[in-house]
Amino acid sequence: MSTHNLIKKPSIHNLQGKKLKQQKLSMLTCYDFTFAQIMNETAIDMLLVGDSGVMTQLGYPDTTHATIDMMCFMTQAVVKGAPDKFIVADMPFLAQRQGIAHAIYCADRLIKCGANAIKIEGVNGHQEVIAHIIESGIPVMGHIGLTPQSVHSLGYKVQGKDQEAAKNLKEQALQLQEIGCFSLVMECVPSELAKEISQMLSIPVIGIGAGNDADGQVLVLQDMLGLNSHLQPKFVRHFLNGFNDIKAAFDAYHHAVQSGDYPNKQESYDIKIA
Ligand code: KIV
Repeated sequence: MSTHNLIKKPSIHNLQGKKLKQQKLSMLTCYDFTFAQIMNETAIDMLLVGDSGVMTQLGYPDTTHATIDMMCFMTQAVVKGAPDKFIVADMPFLAQRQGIAHAIYCADRLIKCGANAIKIEGVNGHQEVIAHIIESGIPVMGHIGLTPQSVHSLGYKVQGKDQEAAKNLKEQALQLQEIGCFSLVMECVPSELAKEISQMLSIPVIGIGAGNDADGQVLVLQDMLGLNSHLQPKFVRHFLNGFNDIKAAFDAYHHAVQSGDYPNKQESYDIKIA
């Protein structure tokens, strides 16, 4: 690693320091080299190699299809493209539920691919696994609320809507902080609950569909670029009209080829063959 990277790449302490200074943290998912290169040139605080990549990149219907090999391919590409960014990689479906040895194997592979931290969904029943990974020197980001790997039991629904569920989420958040997570993602919960939990914890809470009072925000890249033509959750904002703009570029290319406009003289090697 070059000294350049050591200077530029933030540490978990820099990221946590932002919460102390009441500065919001920005995070985006990223799954490939091209987008990682672009993000590397921005002020985005953290990149997440989310298991949502198996949906956006590979077309699977949900994140339960992610394997450690898929996560490693994506992580390696993002690490190459974004050497200056703090990169979190998702543990794939059930990696934390097959005992400590398997979880450590998966975490080790992600770290060897260049991730700076890993993210683990849920806490109940695998507290010890999370603690062991942290004790082994690997920073862990928790993920509670709507945990997409539990889609078959939870669905894609707002979580923590009644007193009991809200209490449960507060307990999970505290537990993750006590175990030693450096941060956590809180997905699809009422804004009021996310605010309370963010204020209660000293570690940064990164919200997605959790209102404006979390310590930071994360969005799926394809969602925020408007690249999905299908249904979008309420919390997604399109920062680009990607689907239509890119489609228009593809059509423009097709017409330029058909009309004979592309390639023109400047775009051709008009060299006399000796
Ligand atoms: O995989 C993912 O995209 C995520 C975000 C929803 C936080 O975990």
